[in-house]
Amino acid sequence: MRVDGQIITDSHASIDRFMRVELDGQVLQQTERAIYLMLHKPVGYLSATSDAQHPTVLDLIDDPDKATLHLAGRLDRNTSGLVLLTNDGRWSKRITEATEKIPKVYLVETLDTIPAEAIAAFAQGFYFHTEGITTLPAELKIIGERQARLTLYEGRYHQIKRMFHRLNNRVTKLHRESIGGITLPDDLEPGQWRMLSDAEKLSCRNTGIPACE
Ligand code: URA
Repeated sequence: MRVDGQIITDSHASIDRFMRVELDGQVLQQTERAIYLMLHKPVGYLSATSDAQHPTVLDLIDDPDKATLHLAGRLDRNTSGLVLLTNDGRWSKRITEATEKIPKVYLVETLDTIPAEAIAAFAQGFYFHTEGITTLPAELKIIGERQARLTLYEGRYHQIKRMFHRLNNRVTKLHRESIGGITLPDDLEPGQWRMLSDAEKLSCRNTGIPACE
């Protein structure tokens, strides 16, 4: 059997739909085009692939195969920043599963002053009654009176807003800057997208997370 032109004799070799498979000169499977892209989500767009009411992030993409894409993690409608889309379910699972502990960095602005004690509260975690869980330790860096950079290792429903609400504060602006080794570039304007480079695609291998090795 040939996989992507290479002769494979191991019957347990893992094959996905993005590989070309030939047997005895016959093509058993054609390569499907694997897509990995980043989008600078503007405020006002839904992290969904279709919606009757609001524009979605998919409306911003003009790739001919965009119908095959799904999101590797969502942002709220009024949150801006880095969103990843792909048609490779194994790749997106690695990005989104809490067990993988991929760091996601957010710039947060709040209504009231962020006190120094907030750092310990985020590091300790917050108990969420609805899910019956305590959030994983998160790193809060206070960079202004009402501005902080927050690193989360999971992504729960309205997580950052709910965390600040616990501290009797309110998030007024939220922007995702990076996911693992993928950082939103300064020259990618809100609404713009581009394909990931090979290095970006593989970047979760560089975080020292064993599951990505
Ligand atoms: N936390 C939130 O509250 N909203 C987001 O969009 C992302 C994280």
